[in-house]
Amino acid sequence: MKKTVIITGGAGFIGSHVVRLFVTSYPEYRVVNLDALTYAGNLENLRDVEQASNYIFEKVNITDQTAVNALFSKYQPEGVIHLAAESHVDRSITSPLDFVYTNVIGTVNLLNAAKELWKDNYEGKRFHHVSTDEVYGALGETGFFTEETKYDPHSPYSASKASSDHFVYAYADTYGLPVVVTNCSNNYGPNHFPEKLIPLMIHNILNNKPLPVYGDGKYTRDWLYVIDHARAIDLVFHQGCAGEKYNVGGFNEWKNIDLVKLLCKQVDEKLGRPAGTSEQLITFVKDRPGHDLRYAIDASKINKELGWKPSVTFEEGLSKTIDWYLENEEWLKHVTSGEYQQYYEKQYN
Ligand code: NAD
Ligand code: TYD
Repeated sequence: MKKTVIITGGAGFIGSHVVRLFVTSYPEYRVVNLDALTYAGNLENLRDVEQASNYIFEKVNITDQTAVNALFSKYQPEGVIHLAAESHVDRSITSPLDFVYTNVIGTVNLLNAAKELWKDNYEGKRFHHVSTDEVYGALGETGFFTEETKYDPHSPYSASKASSDHFVYAYADTYGLPVVVTNCSNNYGPNHFPEKLIPLMIHNILNNKPLPVYGDGKYTRDWLYVIDHARAIDLVFHQGCAGEKYNVGGFNEWKNIDLVKLLCKQVDEKLGRPAGTSEQLITFVKDRPGHDLRYAIDASKINKELGWKPSVTFEEGLSKTIDWYLENEEWLKHVTSGEYQQYYEKQYN
């Protein structure tokens, strides 16, 4: 094996796509998936690659510095791609401290472990921190987030991610740690946990349940197919400049209400239901506190410098995503049993 890369959060939504991409594209790498398997982590996401000879799973919680150090000392990674996080805004509103522990302290623990392991020679080493556009706060009706936009997080989730980004840059400035950071817009695609807008709506449409749209539904997000995010991470990890950040986005803005209507239309067509059937399920519900009006990424830096651009249109990506959920009912059943039911009751009833 030429290189060992630790990918944190590899059993989650985006992490599982990054693990698959690395395991299949780089047979000469040893890919170590470090994941605590919280409610959002699911090894079923990786069934197709778990037998690969260059793949290893390690159940470790990043809030445990001793365990993280032991893992780094065992595998001696040259690279870290850090995705493990508490990732859902609504959960951060009810349990902000969980986000501080994992997103802030967990990130600092990983930075400490990398710094300790690499301190004598940073040559060929890389710590890639995967962050979000939500650190920039909210836009009005116009404008875009660029790499120069000042941080202005509003939710406990985005505050914890902004804090983790600051620690990453602080370790670069103070200790010279070779870091890169990506700030990406909203992802969608296969294996997305159905607490987030798109998979929650698909799940509810399939089960003829109300489709809860927060507030007036005019909130706007910039959606990117998850595999295009994984491709961007691959490029930045390998070719990005040390110390730099790269915004990643879909150039694809949708108001929530329009997106939910499009989902209703596509699912109805695929199921052969009469047009308009699922739209009747749309229910406007109490707004999310501190709800950011609009996110939109200017991804021209990664496009110009590294040649990255989204590979699928939204219509294609959404159609593939719906097909995946229709073909993976068992997956959906597993992840929506148990804890999910309690979460759903508390959040929506
Ligand atoms: P996810 O919630 O689906 O997965 C998170 C993974 O991290 C899970 O496998 C979970 O088990 C693991 N994890 C959580 N706490 C842990 C801990 N203490 N120790 C070890 N593992 C732990 O999240 P996601 O949507 O795949 O997001 C991955 C990363 O990408 C996050 O850092 C998130 O902030 C960032 N991001 C997400 C989006 C998005 O739209 N989902 C957009 C931009 C950036
Ligand atoms: P979400 O998928 O939670 O991502 P984020 O908050 O990180 O952008 O939500 C996307 C948008 O959809 C956001 O404006 C909140 C809204 N939303 C609803 O209207 N209803 C829901 O049930 C959920 C989960 C989200």
